[in-house]
Amino acid sequence: MNVLLIGSGGREHALAWKLAASPMLTRLYAAPGNPGIADEAELVALDVADHAAIIDFCREKSIGLVVVGPEGPLVAGLGDDLRLAGIKVFGPSKSAAQLEGSKGFTKDLCARYDIPTAAYGRFDNAAEAKAYVSAHGAPIVVKADGLAAGKGVTVAMTEAEAFAAIEDCFDGSFGSAGASVVVEEYLTGEEASFFCLCDGRTALPFGTAQDHKQVGDGDTGPNTGGMGAYSPAPVMTQEMIERTMGEIVEPTMRGMAEMGTPFSGILFVGLMITATGPKLIEYNVRFGDPECQVLMMRLKDDLLVLLEAAADGQLGHMSVRWRDEVALTVVLAAQGYPGTPVKGTEIRGLDRAQGAAGVKIFHAGTAERDGRIVANGGRVLNVTAMASTAGEAQRKAYAAVDLIDWPEGFCRLDIGWRAVERENAGQGQ
Ligand code: AMP
Ligand code: GLY
Repeated sequence: MNVLLIGSGGREHALAWKLAASPMLTRLYAAPGNPGIADEAELVALDVADHAAIIDFCREKSIGLVVVGPEGPLVAGLGDDLRLAGIKVFGPSKSAAQLEGSKGFTKDLCARYDIPTAAYGRFDNAAEAKAYVSAHGAPIVVKADGLAAGKGVTVAMTEAEAFAAIEDCFDGSFGSAGASVVVEEYLTGEEASFFCLCDGRTALPFGTAQDHKQVGDGDTGPNTGGMGAYSPAPVMTQEMIERTMGEIVEPTMRGMAEMGTPFSGILFVGLMITATGPKLIEYNVRFGDPECQVLMMRLKDDLLVLLEAAADGQLGHMSVRWRDEVALTVVLAAQGYPGTPVKGTEIRGLDRAQGAAGVKIFHAGTAERDGRIVANGGRVLNVTAMASTAGEAQRKAYAAVDLIDWPEGFCRLDIGWRAVERENAGQGQ
């Protein structure tokens, strides 16, 4: 089968790497891709926003499946346009992508189907949103309704911060994403990322991970897209997975089907594991980045078979197997990130760093210039390692990081700290 992968980040490099390993694959194309993805796929310079051009390409190359990596094209309806043209696609429809595209949509679904989540109010004007804050007090969380490139959420420790966040939303800081806001209860506990492959009816658990959102060691500083991740997440025990399926994912699948917007694709369930159990923080309708990179390291089965079964509504017959090892990825970012990153600096030593067994480097924001690899984004490389313990995976990943010669890059030095601490505590017993 010929496959077209849409996207250009570390997530897509990991997907390309697993798709390329499938015996079912004939040719893999990626649009627009990156220099790492070029090792696995033929890059095509398609404009992802030009759905007609993508459809033409799929017809010309007899594409059997389109795999959409990022949320933007899904929320823009690329999945619908491809399906209308008779092309098979892994990824939800535009209306089902509202699970990520509109926070208010998801909160209303939770209210309707009794799905545990933070108590909330949804407002289209600042005065009422502020009144809700005054009535509930801080800490409290303010969220722009729409997609705001990961910047639309303010966890406000004071009422003044919450008021400022509300004003920002209605001032147009987030464009149309801020035309409506959700104000919600502040949840405490440990966060986890849980994934389910979905085919409209069936949801198949597809791994757990933990991400490190803040830029600095010890979870300090501003939020980023994710500075590193590991899988599995120890907090997601079998019991917690079963509760999450029963209390959160299954009612969501049922509700989406009842509303006429069945969900197919990958459902990324952002959870807070509270004292009373799992609560939904948010849904995303795509793989996490960098969570996908650690999931793909551990996946034993053929990714292409699974994604096609999801697109065909055949997941009821499938199961998934994972390696027992822990996979851990360290994000190397360009100086300036998460603000404006410095671009164009040269990265050396990648081949050397990739030499060790169980180490894989995914390209996230690189470009090739005259045969050299240069930084071309905020998050640039995902140095990924797998080992029998989190501690060992961490050592291996950082040993590989040390072999990369890129003075203008930086990374967190404590990726996986929670899992490593848990292991050390366990050994001490
Ligand atoms: P989101 O963009 O919805 O993932 O939110 C970004 C981050 O804000 C999450 O990963 C959480 O760390 C935090 N957050 C979001 N909602 C809440 C909440 N209700 N209570 C506490 N923290 C939250
Ligand atoms: N790493 C978090 C995300 O992909 O949203």
